[in-house]
Amino acid sequence: MTKFLEILDDKSELVKRALKLSVGRIEEAIAKRGRCSIALAGGSTPKPLYEKLASQNLDWEKVFIFWGDERYVPADHPDSNEKMAREAWLNNCAIPAKNILPIPTGTEPATDAATYEQTLKAYFGDKPAQFDLILLGMGDDGHTASLFPQTAALDAGDRLVTVGQKDQDPRITLTIPVINAAHNIIFLVAGANKQPALQKVFHEDCDPKDYPSKFIQPKDGRLWWLLDAEAGAKLSPDGAIYAMKSK
Ligand code: 6PG
Repeated sequence: MTKFLEILDDKSELVKRALKLSVGRIEEAIAKRGRCSIALAGGSTPKPLYEKLASQNLDWEKVFIFWGDERYVPADHPDSNEKMAREAWLNNCAIPAKNILPIPTGTEPATDAATYEQTLKAYFGDKPAQFDLILLGMGDDGHTASLFPQTAALDAGDRLVTVGQKDQDPRITLTIPVINAAHNIIFLVAGANKQPALQKVFHEDCDPKDYPSKFIQPKDGRLWWLLDAEAGAKLSPDGAIYAMKSK
């Protein structure tokens, strides 16, 4: 695993860097493997990145879009990660509809998680499920995707997709092993409210079940943490468990 920590001046610079990295990984995957599979993050941070990706000149026929997690709401609900990504990006570029594979939320959580697992298996065929790029955010409690602290989803190591739980609300999420199998993972984290969780994830010897982002340690892939200055303010480069990458 190769890990990079980059602290950018502000969110705008973070998004620009994320765009450059994402485009590079997409082009690299298409060149090496003939196609690119991307699992998208939800939440608010990635939205400006998605808006910029829409205008990129990429071979969209060879790009396949999945989601890293989804709230258990209809695809037209304001909280839907699918809705956000379609409106910010996918409706505004020439990606074929068949290349967009959202997480179903119309039956009941365990059934829809199993259905999405089959969708992944159909895409990856007889090869292991290894995304070319996974975009992730981190909540101020240290969760990522819908892997929330001290939930059963953290132990679902025998499958690709499982049911997450945010308080009383079910979610659908990729599991830790399938995230860690990815070729490339990019975290986008902005805002001072993320500082305490980042301290725990990066520096302190704590139970990853309390800060699940700590579980994200890809076996053979590359991991970038892109932080804005507010989020990264208290990380001591010498203490970071990640190699500092110069700006
Ligand atoms: C979701 C996300 C979640 C998100 C973090 C950070 O469905 O909400 O997948 O893991 O990335 O909660 O969200 P913000 O980017 O809005 O801070």
